[in-house]
Amino acid sequence: MTLSIPSMGLLDAKVVIVTGAGRGIGRGEALECAAQGAAVVVAEFDPEAGEEVAKEIVAAGGRAVAVGGDVADAEVADSLVRTAVEEFGQLDAVVNNAGILRDRTVAKLSDDDWDAVIRVHLRGHFLPTRAAVRYWREAKRGGHLVHTASTSGLLGNFGQSNYGAAKAGIAAFSTIVAQEGARGGITSNAIAPTALTRMTLDLMPQEFRDQRDAALARGEFDFFAPENVAPLVAFLCSDASSHISGKVFGVQGDSVEIFQPFTSVAEIKNDGKRWDPEDLPGRIDELFSASGIQAGAENMMARMRYQILDI
Ligand SMILES: NC(=O)c1ccc[n+]([C@@H]2O[C@H](COP(=O)([O-])OP(=O)(O)OC[C@H]3O[C@@H](n4cnc5c(N)ncnc54)[C@H](O)[C@@H]3O)[C@@H](O)[C@H]2O)c1
Repeated sequence: MTLSIPSMGLLDAKVVIVTGAGRGIGRGEALECAAQGAAVVVAEFDPEAGEEVAKEIVAAGGRAVAVGGDVADAEVADSLVRTAVEEFGQLDAVVNNAGILRDRTVAKLSDDDWDAVIRVHLRGHFLPTRAAVRYWREAKRGGHLVHTASTSGLLGNFGQSNYGAAKAGIAAFSTIVAQEGARGGITSNAIAPTALTRMTLDLMPQEFRDQRDAALARGEFDFFAPENVAPLVAFLCSDASSHISGKVFGVQGDSVEIFQPFTSVAEIKNDGKRWDPEDLPGRIDELFSASGIQAGAENMMARMRYQILDI
């Protein structure tokens, strides 16, 4: 992506923090927010990667500063908001994007791989959010939060119980922050992106990579480019999205989807009395037949609207 900063954009005079902005999806989000006129605080664990993105924005005539460190650390998270205010005078939006994977099936999952993933995603979303909400409350102004969930959390994905639990938690966190922020003009939305990045490229079958390389060689649209996630995120950081909050959007390629929240779809009742466990085996199937939901474990990823492989 070659950065160009037009004279008028969706985020003119705004200030946005993007976490995990040194590479992948976060880098694309930082560049797009800058392209839309925002000053960007580039928060990144790997300081060199963060500095590079900030330099790229400044070289294109934009405003950016890099802050190195772990966003799941309260001092780092607080310093992001402080930096936004000290360097650029205010804060308007936070994109919580930083994340890691440590995939294992649950029986093989170590305590450390559980804790690291839960910490980076959940604390790494909570702490910058808390710092921003405290600032907005004190400054008596609204703001926009964009959180990064995943289909692995919303639908479930084999081998990702730690990551999926964190990502489903992020969707719930976003919904609750949206309720709490509504009176103060704070919006909170989550995205479930798909893109080929350092995080996902190695997980893809060779057949898929070959298909993609062939499509790119033909000059076709790169559906899985990480930059494709950024336009929706820039919009959700802008006042043009002030009427939207507590929602979860899917985003990849040229596609923007909205996810249905968890919804009760069928019920059985016991005539105003507590259930006897012995009666449940004879009645529970009514829930499955009324809803069309199957009783056993499902591959929920089969419900996605796009296919990784067109074979
Ligand atoms: N790539 C996908 O298809 C996909 C799908 C669903 C969700 N996501 C989510 O999107 C986000 C970005 O993923 P990506 O694919 O661009 O990955 P990536 O590995 O390319 O980039 C993630 C960036 O976050 C940084 N980071 C990690 N932990 C950090 C921390 N504690 N503090 C500060 N920075 C930290 C990394 O250094 C890296 O630069 C993640 O939250 C990921 O879970 C990605």
